[in-house]
Amino acid sequence: DAAVSSNVVWHLQSISAAQRSEANGHKSAVLWYTGLSGSGKSTVANAVDQKLFERGCHTYVLDGDNVRHGLNGDLTFSDKDRVENIRRIGEVSKLFVDSGLLVSTAFISPFASDRKMVRDQLPADKFVEVFIDTPIEICEQRDPKGLYKKARNGEIKNFTGIDSAYDIPESPEVHLKTANKSIEACADEVVAKLVELGLID
Ligand code: PPS
Repeated sequence: DAAVSSNVVWHLQSISAAQRSEANGHKSAVLWYTGLSGSGKSTVANAVDQKLFERGCHTYVLDGDNVRHGLNGDLTFSDKDRVENIRRIGEVSKLFVDSGLLVSTAFISPFASDRKMVRDQLPADKFVEVFIDTPIEICEQRDPKGLYKKARNGEIKNFTGIDSAYDIPESPEVHLKTANKSIEACADEVVAKLVELGLID
């Protein structure tokens, strides 16, 4: 009862995103990778993440492995569920941005309206869209999980680029034509853009 009689009041002071940025030595933002299945989203996102980590940045990568198996384990690849997938990832990204991180998301995110929805919920300088532009022929040639083959055979329905739409980003902050470029070169381009945008030094 002592706390009550002495009028102790817990004052919840929240630390602002700006204060966290200052402590971290860089701004927070979401690096939103988008592209076809097998385009290299995850690979480039992780290569960039490695470079940022080496520079002492506070980062995290959200991708299918830690999201579609967990938080979004209940979602399919119907249009409706893809919208919900991106909505939830957008919400989680906002929390990470608020916590001061440079968070990378690596999802197909095929619909322009969903990418815009996430963009519009963040300050203009905190959404960096990275289009991993790999021709479908190359993705299909790679076919690391054999999914294009299955989609062509009709064993998988609603496969992006085959019988489900992919809206090409109109004005991404970074447009990476990966076909004749190394992963290293792709990652360097993204990092250079982050410097140019003033997110990192
Ligand atoms: S989406 O469209 O943003 O909700 O998709 P995402 O969460 O990124 O999941 C894409 C990965 O799921 C596998 N997969 C499919 N992709 C597209 N269409 C269909 N129907 C499908 N079914 C399973 C596929 O391996 C994708 O992996 P990535 O990493 O993109 O290559």
